[in-house]
Amino acid sequence: MLEKIKETIDYIHGLIDYKPRIGIVLGTGLGGLVKEINVEGTIPYKDIPNFPLSTVKGHEGQLIFGKLGGKKVVAMQGRFHYYEGYTMQELTFPIRVLKMLGIELLILSNAAGGVNQEYEIGDLMVIKDHINLMGDNPLIGRNDTGLGPRFPDMSEAYDKKIIRQFTKIARVHNIHFQVGVYAAVTGPTFETPAEYRYIRTLGADAVGMSTVPEAIVARHMSLPVFAVSVISDLGVEGKIVEISHDDVIDAASMVEPKMTLVIKEMIQNMSPKV
Ligand code: HPA
Repeated sequence: MLEKIKETIDYIHGLIDYKPRIGIVLGTGLGGLVKEINVEGTIPYKDIPNFPLSTVKGHEGQLIFGKLGGKKVVAMQGRFHYYEGYTMQELTFPIRVLKMLGIELLILSNAAGGVNQEYEIGDLMVIKDHINLMGDNPLIGRNDTGLGPRFPDMSEAYDKKIIRQFTKIARVHNIHFQVGVYAAVTGPTFETPAEYRYIRTLGADAVGMSTVPEAIVARHMSLPVFAVSVISDLGVEGKIVEISHDDVIDAASMVEPKMTLVIKEMIQNMSPKV
């Protein structure tokens, strides 16, 4: 694995000499952040050795290097999902590459279904913890101690200090948000009413199909993680309606400007050490 990462890093450094401090995965809900980046270089995923090959035509994805809020960032425009057929190791490989490029913080975003009765469509939910219901883990297999420990601690998977910074800025702008637990499932099916109920009973506030593998791999490498969900539909008794991928995207794009504002300002206010 280390050899593969080195090969990928060498390729990227051959094209661009850039040491980003923050890595951002532009999931549903954060795509608009791209417009805020002063782009200094882009590399299509399809050119990058060892990067997974996209299964969606026309959505190959790219790495974007540039400044956001005065800080050097690298953004992944396009992420990989387990339901596309990648192994956990494949879909999290780019996170390992970002870490080796020098990032000191990973920011993840996603769309999720709310299972907490108090949630509404369009809410932002800061992830304070997660439950992995994917039945798989990206760290299964031989452990490379050069990357991280065999049994990583997950007692504070999501960085409390960054959560405080986010909540402070959101309050200043009067932006409503929730703080909750994210349960990750494989998808691609949305949940049945019984499954939403089951997920709520387990202690989750929202459910989605991404983020957890990336957070696990980041924590394996001691990389601080901040993650936020856009609540795009509700898996709450009496409020469950038929949903489609388009509904999820529509709800997420409604909230995108708020999310973009807070994340940008949060990055701007970060001390030089992050
Ligand atoms: N379930 C799972 N994943 C999701 C949902 C949901 O209701 N909404 C957006 N992603």
